Amino acid sequence: MKKTKFTWQRKDLLGIQELSADEIFHILDTAAAFKQVGERNIKKVPSLRGKTLINLFIEPSTRTRTSFELAATRLSADVVNITANASSLVKGETLKDTALNLQALHADIIVIRHGAAGAPHFLSKIVKASIINAGDGAHEHPTQALLDAFTIREKKGKIAGLNVTILGDILYSRVARSNIWLLTKLGAKVTLAGPSTLVPHVFEQLGCRVTHDMEEAIRDADVINLLRIQHERQRKTMFPSIGEYTAMFGLNKERFARTKPDAMIMHPGPINRGVEIDSDVADCSRSVILEQVTNGLAVRMAVLYLCSGGQPA
Ligand code: CP
Repeated sequence: MKKTKFTWQRKDLLGIQELSADEIFHILDTAAAFKQVGERNIKKVPSLRGKTLINLFIEPSTRTRTSFELAATRLSADVVNITANASSLVKGETLKDTALNLQALHADIIVIRHGAAGAPHFLSKIVKASIINAGDGAHEHPTQALLDAFTIREKKGKIAGLNVTILGDILYSRVARSNIWLLTKLGAKVTLAGPSTLVPHVFEQLGCRVTHDMEEAIRDADVINLLRIQHERQRKTMFPSIGEYTAMFGLNKERFARTKPDAMIMHPGPINRGVEIDSDVADCSRSVILEQVTNGLAVRMAVLYLCSGGQPA
């Protein structure tokens, strides 16, 4: 494993775009140490004892919210969860006032998921707490890209030089953007694939190859990362029907048989079985979908630890 001699300087994790390759490797190395801690009998460490983390989730989540809560608990922090429907946001309170009230309660770390791109960046300017982006609109989902990179490195031994295909709704996906920035910084060759309405050629400006040909997309891939259709962000119809999307771009058993024998299947979840991925593929031995979830815990422990002033574990 590549070890970095590096001092972490950031109190916030707002996105991958602003991180250097050294910073990314430093998070991955710290996460590897925390993954080992998670395999011990006693999984809890005192690193964040006395700190308070608030999970402010204004959009739904299963994996990210739960793993941030578990990560903070493993680090001995106190955790409070706030969801949109159970908060005073529904009574008209602004995000700014919500954050100022959380600051008045001495929150040390605020993990935010919000439908608006830039919401975490806005909070980072108005409160002293560390702000961790858990997904902002279609902009970034940095800890997802980090756990994806962690999983690729763990399974393939490297990231540089790999052919990584990201397949599906790229246009509306924050996971896609964070993965593109991370993987290109670390030297992977990234191909984006899907319907032309969801994978426009403008993404080539980010250093990726764009194709609308499914066979070309999967043929040489070492890693295939499937994304669901982000219906919640699409303002208009982007393809004729779900059935046609699946027929053109769904990864089924027949297409999977035409991938490289060691091609690895990834998906950030939630998966829509029978749409972008068939169960035969989602549950096969080359799928690492649930290992991604496991690795998310170690990666989120690393991010919380480093942004709270911790040094390498
Ligand atoms: N991958 C991901 O962000 O999943 P959740 O929406 O369940 O957190």
